[in-house]
Amino acid sequence: MKLGRRDIIWIIPSAIAAGFFGWLGYRTVYIQFFKTGVAEPVWKDGPRVRVAGAGELEQPWAFRYFEYPVRVGTAERKLQAVAFRLPQPVSGSLELGGAHFLALSRVCTHQGCTVNYVDNPELGAIAYNYRTEHPFLGCPCHFGAFEPLQAGRAVYGPPRFPLPRLRLEAQNGTIYATGHETPLRPIEQG
Ligand code: FES
Repeated sequence: MKLGRRDIIWIIPSAIAAGFFGWLGYRTVYIQFFKTGVAEPVWKDGPRVRVAGAGELEQPWAFRYFEYPVRVGTAERKLQAVAFRLPQPVSGSLELGGAHFLALSRVCTHQGCTVNYVDNPELGAIAYNYRTEHPFLGCPCHFGAFEPLQAGRAVYGPPRFPLPRLRLEAQNGTIYATGHETPLRPIEQG
């Protein structure tokens, strides 16, 4: 069959549209469903660093940013991290006097930007397209979202892997970070 000029005028835009919608469908499925679950953490011991007094995180969803020293090869680096008080226990959390605390790395497992605490779920839904009733962690670079109530699991956007957890321990009402989950993505493994 010989294609005329008129046919080509239709075929090229149709092929471009089909390619675009195919790509869009693939991205939608990838962004929504190709996420790695959260397993029980395997801890690597590290220095003992004060995070907060339990009284400083008095209410559920109170949070505190902190830095945790980690060794990467021969170099030491300060890992940006966040500790929360959560309304319920999750994998890797610390229970202290009936309250639950979780600490997560703030280094996005997609391309390493620093994630932020998003405390306004309405604004979060607009900016991150992730609808929830409580705060979560959002990455400003490509709008990835991570869920603290699923122990840091990636729930929206390009990141596939959860945020690594930091081990928390308590002594005399003070919370300390004493190690981190391995692998420490994306620093130790992409
Ligand atoms: S670096 Fe965080 S979503 Fe891309």
